[in-house]
Amino acid sequence: MTLGISLHTDMDDIDSIFADDVELIQNADVLEEDYTPQQIICRDNVLEQYTSVFKPIYKGRPPQNAFLYGDTGVGKTAATKYLRQNLEQDIEQKNKRLPESEQVSLTVIWINCENFTTGDHKTSSYQVAVGIVNRLRDTGNRITGTGYAPQDVYDIMYEELDKLDGTVLVILDEVDKIGDDDTLLYELPRSRDIGYVENVRVGVIGISNDYTFRKNLSPKVKDSLCETEIKFPAYDAGELGQILSTRADLALYDTAYTQETINLCSALAYKEASGSARRAIRLLRRSAEIAEENGSQQIEEKHIRQADKDLEYGNIVESIVDQDDEKLYILKALAHLDEAGLTPARTRTIHAAYARVVRTYNAETGKEPLTQRGMFNHLSKLVMFGFVNTIDHNKGVGGGQWNEHEFSDDVNPRKVKDAFEDRNLQWVNIDVRGIKD
Ligand SMILES: Nc1ncnc2c1ncn2[C@@H]1O[C@H](COP(=O)(O)OP(=O)(O)O)[C@@H](O)[C@H]1O
Ligand SMILES: [Mg+2]
Repeated sequence: MTLGISLHTDMDDIDSIFADDVELIQNADVLEEDYTPQQIICRDNVLEQYTSVFKPIYKGRPPQNAFLYGDTGVGKTAATKYLRQNLEQDIEQKNKRLPESEQVSLTVIWINCENFTTGDHKTSSYQVAVGIVNRLRDTGNRITGTGYAPQDVYDIMYEELDKLDGTVLVILDEVDKIGDDDTLLYELPRSRDIGYVENVRVGVIGISNDYTFRKNLSPKVKDSLCETEIKFPAYDAGELGQILSTRADLALYDTAYTQETINLCSALAYKEASGSARRAIRLLRRSAEIAEENGSQQIEEKHIRQADKDLEYGNIVESIVDQDDEKLYILKALAHLDEAGLTPARTRTIHAAYARVVRTYNAETGKEPLTQRGMFNHLSKLVMFGFVNTIDHNKGVGGGQWNEHEFSDDVNPRKVKDAFEDRNLQWVNIDVRGIKD
C-alpha cells in the first residue's frame, strides 16, 4: 500500500484502501461524547466495588446508596451507564425464569443535574425534583420549573415515585451542580425510612467531579447518600493509551494512525488534563479531523499539536462561560480596553469600563455596578484563576505603589466574545474612549 499520495489528485491509485475515500474516520459515533463503550477497561478495582452496590437490586433486596467522585473524564458516567445496562439486561433475563410474584422490578431515573439550569434558575434540589416528576409523567402532564412551593414539588415527586413498585434507582450525575441546598440528597435516600414512600425502595447514586462538594456535604447527607463512596482515580498515560487504542480501533481506519499517534495523544491528555480519557478521545478525534482537512491519509504529529491548541482554546472559552455575571462584565470591560490599546489598566479604569458594561446590560432592571472595592474582589478571583495578570508598580519611597491588570496569555477579546456567544449574550460594543485618566 502506498501512503502519502494525495488521493484528491490520484484517484486511480487502486492500491490504497482509501482509493474511493480520503476519510480517516470510519465510525464517528464511537468518538462522540455520549457513546457508551462496550467494555470499561483499566477499572477492575472500581468496577468490583461498584458492582457490589448494584447486587442487592439484582437480588431484589433493599438498594444501597452510593457517592462516586473523581476528576472529570475518569469514567464515572461511562462505568455507571455500563453497569446500568448490564443490571437491566440481567434482571430481564432473571425475570424470565421466575414466576411473576418473585420477579424483580426496577425503574432507573437518570438525571444529569447540569442540564437543570434554566434561565436564571440555578440547579437546585427543587429543580431536580421537578425533573424527577417529569421523567415519571406523560408529556401532557409535566410540571414547570417555577410556580410551585418547594414542599409541593417534593410531595408530588414522592407521590409519583410511590406509584411505582420494587426498586427505583435515581442516578444524579454531576450532582455537585445542585449547589448548597442538599435537601433532596438527604431526603431521597431515606424517603422510605422517613415515611414519604411506602411501595418503593429508593436507591440514589450521586456522581460528582468536585472534591470540595463532597467535603462540604452536610453530615446528614454523608450519612445517607455516602453510604458507599467510590473514588475514581485519574488515569496514567499508559491507561489512557489502552482506552484510546480500543476506541481508535473502532473509530478509525487502521492506516489512519500509528502507535505513536496513540502515545502522543495520551501523553498530552495526561499532562494537560490530569488523566482525562475525555480529553484524550477529543484530542484523537480533532487530530483525525485536521488530518482529513489537510488531505493527509495518516494523523501526523503536527495535526495532534494543532488539535491540542484547538482544544485549549475551547477550554478557555468554556471556563469563561462558567464565570458569574460580574466576572463576565469585568472580562468584557478588559476586552474593550485591550482592543483600544488601553491595557494594562489600573483598577479605577477597569472599574469605569466595567460600570459602563453593567449599565448597558442591565438597562431594563436598573441593576447597579458594584463599587470599585466590590469589583476588585471579583478581579482578584480572575487573577487567581489565571485569566488576568497583575503588574505591580512600585516606585519606591514616596513614588507610590499601584497595580495594573491585563489579560493573561490564555485570554484575548476573541475568547471573551465567543464565551458571550455561548451564553447567548449579545456582544454590545462599549465605548471606552477617554476613560483612562
Ligand atoms: N475505563 C474506560 N474504558 C473505556 N472508555 C472510557 C473509560 N473511562 C472513560 N472512558 C471514556 O472517556 C470519556 C469520558 O468518560 P466519562 O465517563 O464521561 O467521564 P466522567 O463521567 O468521569 O467525567 C467517555 O467517552 C468514556 O466513554
Ligand atoms: Mg460524567
